[in-house]
Amino acid sequence: MAGRFITFEGIDGSGKSTQIHTLAETLRASGHDVVLTREPGGSPGAEEIRRLVLEGDPDRWSAETEILLFTAARRDHLERTILPALARGQIVLCDRFADSTRMYQGLSRGDLRGIVDQLHSLMIGREPDLTILIDMDPAIGLARAKSRATAEERFEDFGEALQKQMRAGFLALANEFSDRIRVIDGARDIDTVAADILARVEADLA
Ligand code: ADP
Ligand code: TYD
Repeated sequence: MAGRFITFEGIDGSGKSTQIHTLAETLRASGHDVVLTREPGGSPGAEEIRRLVLEGDPDRWSAETEILLFTAARRDHLERTILPALARGQIVLCDRFADSTRMYQGLSRGDLRGIVDQLHSLMIGREPDLTILIDMDPAIGLARAKSRATAEERFEDFGEALQKQMRAGFLALANEFSDRIRVIDGARDIDTVAADILARVEADLA
């Protein structure tokens, strides 16, 4: 019994959490056994690390320390949540995974992609079976993200220039990993985006 590991990626406010919840409900309604999870977090230990990385001053951690923290959280999440669920044959839907580290830590504070990839192959060594990349203009994503008031502001404070860089980076990543990353236009209404995503996922599961 082999499960399926599906991740959602995209800039802040692109609609990942909205769409991943809808997909989980739809798949469950058609009889699939679904585990819905997210990063950073997704296991008790990783949720504790989430608070360390997402709250507080933007300069709280160096870029290198941040890579270690995100990777530590991911390792715990993988060991305790993702791999056991896949071994049970479940479909794991995960809001962000290693592609987010390749982008945010790999690009935003200098070119650290090489370090991110080395640590990934050393400590994680698992790619998703399918990645849904929700693509859209950062101005729209930022306006949507700012409408939420939370304590998790370290990254959203970086603003539109960073999100533009992230958008371009994610699109380049979709070319690099064209076997598993599917790009979805997120600037349409919620139901249209959801139908597009469901079609891609059903094709993948078939
Ligand atoms: P993310 O998880 O990528 O940051 P969210 O799913 O939290 O994005 O969406 C950010 C905000 O935008 C939410 O308030 C959500 O209701 C809204 N939103 C999501 N998708 C759409 C859409 N297609 N059109 C308009 N608003 C949307
Ligand atoms: P998330 O909760 O998905 O935020 P949003 O709903 O706004 O997209 O992720 C929180 C932030 O963490 C987001 O700005 C991206 C950042 N992040 C990284 O910088 N590196 C990572 O490896 C991950 C998983 C997230």
